[in-house]
Amino acid sequence: MTAMDVIVSLCKRRGFVFQSSEIYGGTGSCWDYGPLGVELRNNIKRVWWRDFVQQRGDIVGLDASILMHSAVWKASGHLDLFTDPMVDCRECRRRFRADQVDDQPWTHYCEATKGNRFTVPAGEPCRHCGNRRTLCPECGKGELTPPRQFNLMFKTFMGPVEDDATITYLRPETAQGIFVNFDNVLQATRRKLPFGIAQIGKAFRNEITPGNFIFRSREFEQMEIEFFVNPQQTVAGQPADEHWHDRWIADCQAWFTRYGIDPGHLRLHEHDRNELAHYAKRTVDILYEFPMGWSELMGIANRTDYDLKQHAKFSGKALTWFDEERKEHVVPYVVEPSAGVDRALLAFLLDAYREEEVRGDKRVVLRFHPELAPVKIAVLPLLKKRPEIVATAHELRARLARRWTTLYDDTAAIGRLYRRQDEVGTPYCVTVDVKTVGDTDKGEAGDQRVTIRERDSMEQIRVPIADLERLFAQLLEGGAWPEVAAAYPRAAG
Ligand code: GAP
Repeated sequence: MTAMDVIVSLCKRRGFVFQSSEIYGGTGSCWDYGPLGVELRNNIKRVWWRDFVQQRGDIVGLDASILMHSAVWKASGHLDLFTDPMVDCRECRRRFRADQVDDQPWTHYCEATKGNRFTVPAGEPCRHCGNRRTLCPECGKGELTPPRQFNLMFKTFMGPVEDDATITYLRPETAQGIFVNFDNVLQATRRKLPFGIAQIGKAFRNEITPGNFIFRSREFEQMEIEFFVNPQQTVAGQPADEHWHDRWIADCQAWFTRYGIDPGHLRLHEHDRNELAHYAKRTVDILYEFPMGWSELMGIANRTDYDLKQHAKFSGKALTWFDEERKEHVVPYVVEPSAGVDRALLAFLLDAYREEEVRGDKRVVLRFHPELAPVKIAVLPLLKKRPEIVATAHELRARLARRWTTLYDDTAAIGRLYRRQDEVGTPYCVTVDVKTVGDTDKGEAGDQRVTIRERDSMEQIRVPIADLERLFAQLLEGGAWPEVAAAYPRAAG
C-alpha cells in the first residue's frame, strides 16, 4: 500500500472522508467529510480564521454568495482564460489534460514482443522497442484528439428559464466575491491601506483529471485573503506590494509549521513567466511533499491592480481608495494568500500519521496538534458492567463537553479503546475505574480520581475529578504535558 492508500483507508474506516454518492458507485471527484472529518475541517478553518482575521487588526471577514452575476467572470478573465488543454481518446473516450498526459504510466502493446501488453513508467520509452507513447495511456489503443481548450467553470442557470440571459457559473475561486465587494467593505469599515478581506468558502472546478484523493476534486473549499496595499508606498525600502508579498509567504509557511507540519516537508516554488496566471506579477506556491511528489499546498500571488481595474471597467463603478494625505484616488495592489481547506487537511493528516512499535505491537497514531484534533478528550469506563463507573464517565463527558469536543466509548477493552483514540489523534483519554467510584458492597469509598493518558508519550497520571477542567484548560490552551503532568502522581500504564 502507498502512503496515500493508507490514509485513504484510515479516512474511510474511521469516518474522516467518504467518497461522494458511494452507494451509487461514487463520483471519484467529490468527497464527503464524516463525523471526524467535519471536526478536523472545522478546526482548520477555525484556527485559520482566528489567526488571520480575529487576531489581526488589519483584516476583516466576508461571506459572499457562490452564484454571482455572470459579468463577474467576463471581467475577471475566467470566461476566456480559465481553461486547460484537453485531449480525448478516440477509442475508450477517456479524457486527459494535454500537458499532463505524459505524467502517468502508459499502457503499451509492444510489437517487438508479439504485441505483449506492458505498463511503461511515466515519460519513459518502452525498453523492448524503444518507442515512446503516442496512443491513449489508459487503453493503449486509441489515438488522442488534438488538444482543445476546455473551460473549467461549471455552468448553470439562474431562474426557471434556461436561456442565455440567465447563464451563470459556480465560482471557481472565492476571490472574486471579495473584489466585487471591495467598495462595500471600504465604506462600511473605513479602513486605511494596507488592509485585507478574508473569506472561507466553496469553489468548483470541472477539473479534467481530478485525483489523488481530496488533493484535486471538483468541489473544494478555499481560505483566501485579498490584502490591499498602496502601490505608491515603500516599506523598508521595497515597493509595498513586494514587501507584503514576502511577508505573506513567510507568515503562511509559519502557519503550517505552527500546526504541526514538519518544515522539511514544505518548500517554495517560484512561478516562472510561462506559469504565471494572467493577473499575476509574481506567484510563489508553498509545496508539500505529498505521496505523489512535491505538489501545491497553497499559492501566494501578487495580483497587482488587475482585478479591481477590470471590475471597475466592466461595472462602471470606481473601485479606489482615497489617499487623504495626497488627496488622490489610488487603485490598490492585491497580495493574495490562497489555501485549499482540503489540501491543508490532507497535509495535516499525512504529516500526523505514524506507525510505531509498542511492546511488540503496532500502534497507529495521528499526532495532530491539539487545536486540530477532531476529539480532544475521550472518556472511557474501565468496566462497563459497573453502573457507577458508567454513570460517572457519562457525567464527566457531559461536563467536559461544555468546553471541548469529547467522546464516550465503552465498546472494547481499555487497551483497544486507547489504540482507537490514538488512531484518530485524540490527545487525551480519561479513564474512570473501580478506585474512582469505590465499592459499596465492600464498604470502600471512591477516591474521586481518574487516570489521564497522553497520546504521544502514552504516560498516565492520576488526577482528582475536581481538577479536570482546570487541567484540560492548561493542556488544551498551550500548556506542555511534561510540566502540567509533573504536578500529579504517575499511574501505571
Ligand atoms: N484565487 C486564487 C486561486 O484560486 P489557485 O492556485 O487556483 O488560486 C488556490 O487555488 C488553492 O486552492 C490551491 O493552492 C489549492 O490548495 C486549492 N485548490 C485549487 N484547485 C483545487 C482542486 N481542484 N481541488 C482541491 N483544492 C484545490
